[in-house]
Amino acid sequence: MSPKRSNTGLVSNFFSAVRPSTKEGRLAPPNNKYSKAFSSSSPFLATTSLLGKVAIVTGSSRSIGASVAKCLGEHGANVVVNYVNDAKAADEVVQAIRSQGKGGAIAVKANAATMEGSQFLLDEAIRTFGHLDILVLNAGIMGSRPLAEVDESFYDSHFDTNVKAPLFMAKAAAPLLSSPGGRIIFFSSSLTTASTILPNSLCYLATKGAIEQISRVLAKDLGSRGITVNTISPGPVDTPLFREGKPHNVIEAIAKQNPSRRLGEPDDIAPLVGFLASQAAQWINGQNIRVNGAFVV
Ligand SMILES: NC(=O)c1ccc[n+]([C@@H]2O[C@H](COP(=O)([O-])OP(=O)(O)OC[C@H]3O[C@@H](n4cnc5c(N)ncnc54)[C@H](OP(=O)(O)O)[C@@H]3O)[C@@H](O)[C@H]2O)c1
Repeated sequence: MSPKRSNTGLVSNFFSAVRPSTKEGRLAPPNNKYSKAFSSSSPFLATTSLLGKVAIVTGSSRSIGASVAKCLGEHGANVVVNYVNDAKAADEVVQAIRSQGKGGAIAVKANAATMEGSQFLLDEAIRTFGHLDILVLNAGIMGSRPLAEVDESFYDSHFDTNVKAPLFMAKAAAPLLSSPGGRIIFFSSSLTTASTILPNSLCYLATKGAIEQISRVLAKDLGSRGITVNTISPGPVDTPLFREGKPHNVIEAIAKQNPSRRLGEPDDIAPLVGFLASQAAQWINGQNIRVNGAFVV
């Protein structure tokens, strides 16, 4: 059985699917296979269970990605835990998921910053679990240089890892994702809308701005197949990516900008991914959701 599905003609299908009007002139409730995909006896009992779903989380051996992988596994999903360097850490995430006795998990070494690595992850997910429902594009890098120090290789490394690879992985995943019900979740940053940004955030924030726009447009495209595409934008989260190169006093000062006077933790972010991946979030599409404890309001 081929898991591939066609991804063409989506926009024209959407506009040609005109819904009938009621006597009052309002559109009748949609009555198509997408609207019924998750029907239950009550709309308020839509489930957040991910039992039987298959998820890939890029960059999930530690930090936010690891927490997301564990969260999805705890909701019942089978998870592909991806890493490049730290096989031991990835195995610990896999064991944590398996020990819950809900979802399954495998660790896959692949460079998610490349097209080949991304394709390998998709192939391994399908080979192991047979299908794909959820793609979380978490892997990213955050270098720190002001304009005068930005060179071509610094720029390219950021755009290759944070924009090009996720875009083409989403493209390769689109025909494989369950339809309806598929989920793509991108990662941006609350800094894209913060006033207090440093000049050396230039390339990092340029890539995150691109991701937010990619996510908006893809939601319109893939939404016609019942696949949602959303972006999560954390505020400062206590991970190696955030701490790298920052003196202690700067980290303290950033933490104090939050009303809770602390940094976010990966576990503060993961539950939103679990929710967006679920049936209960089927009507949340094309959104950029900031998760930052009011660091940016
Ligand atoms: N931390 C924050 O304050 C913050 C705020 C806003 C947004 N974000 C976004 O959240 C995402 C995760 O950030 P984080 O702070 O959790 O990062 P992190 O601490 O650097 O962790 C990165 C994870 O990704 C893996 N990884 C790195 N490059 C990879 C690659 N090319 N292919 C596959 N895996 C790769 C690492 O695996 P190995 O251990 O094997 O290298 C590790 O598991 C990023 O997109 C970031 O921009 C973070």
